[in-house]
Amino acid sequence: MTTIAVLGNGRVGGSLATALTQAGHEVTVADRSPGSAADAVRTAQIVVNATPGEGSLERLVALREELQGKILVDVSNAAVDGPDGLPADLLYPGSSLAEQLQESLPETRVVKTLNTMLFPVMTAPATLTQTPSAFLSGEDPQAKQTVRELLIDLGWRNEWITDLGGIQTARATEAAILFVPHVIRSSGFAPFALSIAR
Ligand SMILES: NC(=O)c1ccc[n+]([C@@H]2O[C@H](COP(=O)([O-])OP(=O)(O)OC[C@H]3O[C@@H](n4cnc5c(N)ncnc54)[C@H](OP(=O)(O)O)[C@@H]3O)[C@@H](O)[C@H]2O)c1
Repeated sequence: MTTIAVLGNGRVGGSLATALTQAGHEVTVADRSPGSAADAVRTAQIVVNATPGEGSLERLVALREELQGKILVDVSNAAVDGPDGLPADLLYPGSSLAEQLQESLPETRVVKTLNTMLFPVMTAPATLTQTPSAFLSGEDPQAKQTVRELLIDLGWRNEWITDLGGIQTARATEAAILFVPHVIRSSGFAPFALSIAR
């Protein structure tokens, strides 16, 4: 059993919190009210960022002290929206939100994962007709192993999870957000995930 703080109570945060609770973890969900995130992070071993990517860096840097020594699981995507409100470009070209977070929070171990799929897949990967992939990016092998075990708790098979390497590899997975508007326009909101086929 792990103590987990989930920041954000939307589609992603809400479904991850429910599934992690069902898996036996002690989960606190923080909303945007003052003090809520700081209180939740202070008592947690693992923190999940499920808030909008555009404001994530500023929000999490404000929690720098509370995040010291913790694992930060970043599932967010930081994009610039087009006129239709769908992601059209990267907010951190030549870098990534995950790299910015790791650089700004050197005493926190950032692991990027689950950002390459629509939210229903995160907690029910076995429901797709093809095998989905989940990726791990981060500097600390032990933190990535801990996050791998959390993914397995969520229904991921070990062989569906690929450790891409250091935090810089999050550039690749964060760029996958650029697929999303086109896939949604062509096939609607049916759950999908990026998958490495062999
Ligand atoms: N939806 C997906 O399928 C999907 C897939 C992969 C990755 N992601 C990423 O996951 C993150 C969350 O996505 P989502 O679809 O769950 O979004 P969402 O449904 O809009 O939920 C966002 C949550 O963040 C909270 N929030 C917004 N601004 C905040 C602030 N300033 N301080 C604290 N909390 C704040 C919102 O609170 P309020 O309710 O008060 O606004 C809400 O609880 C995003 O970074 C997104 O790119 C989403």
